[in-house]
Amino acid sequence: MAQSRTVAVVVGSLRKESFSRKLAKAIAAVAPPHLTFDFVDIGQLQHFNQDLEATPTAEWTAFRESIKAADAVLFVTPEYNRGLPGVLKNAIDVGSRPYGASVWNGKPAAVVSNSPGAIGGFGAYHQLRQSLVFLNVPTVNQPETYVGGVAELFDANGELINESTAEFLTGFGQTFADAIERHLS
Ligand code: FNR
Repeated sequence: MAQSRTVAVVVGSLRKESFSRKLAKAIAAVAPPHLTFDFVDIGQLQHFNQDLEATPTAEWTAFRESIKAADAVLFVTPEYNRGLPGVLKNAIDVGSRPYGASVWNGKPAAVVSNSPGAIGGFGAYHQLRQSLVFLNVPTVNQPETYVGGVAELFDANGELINESTAEFLTGFGQTFADAIERHLS
């Protein structure tokens, strides 16, 4: 029996009906059961301001603690203007400081991008991974996870209704779980 692991889920969209959040929930639903997914809110984080480093806000501290407490991180993000949403970049920056105390350092992660369009958020995926390389976050390489046509994948209740996507996400969840074990053991 695999040891329980917690995964912090960071969603790059704040809107209520976000496809990214639905996709993150769908991944959590098909992932191996020893993984527990904890959705971490990033909408309340103040814009990063280096002047506040010495006196961090309660929201920054709570966010940093949530990431620190997790065994791994799953990022699920849309693409904004061929890049990652500002709210997600802000969360990355908040977690990266103070210098030398980044909560991301060495934390196993996976990135999933998505879009109603065909390219599946490829630009956001790689822009995010650019920062994760710098932050020393070991990230799942394969399968690459650019989910296109995302608006067609869910019913009115937000349930995943596409069988091949469910199969793909199941394989992805297993790969992520294996990667987490490799990095933690
Ligand atoms: C978008 N959208 C978008 N889609 C895409 O595939 N590539 C892009 O560069 C952009 N750019 C973009 C910019 C801004 C400001 C918005 C609001 C939207 C469309 C986007 O994929 C769509 O709105 C998604 O539904 C947003 O993700 P959530 O909120 O459903 O998770």
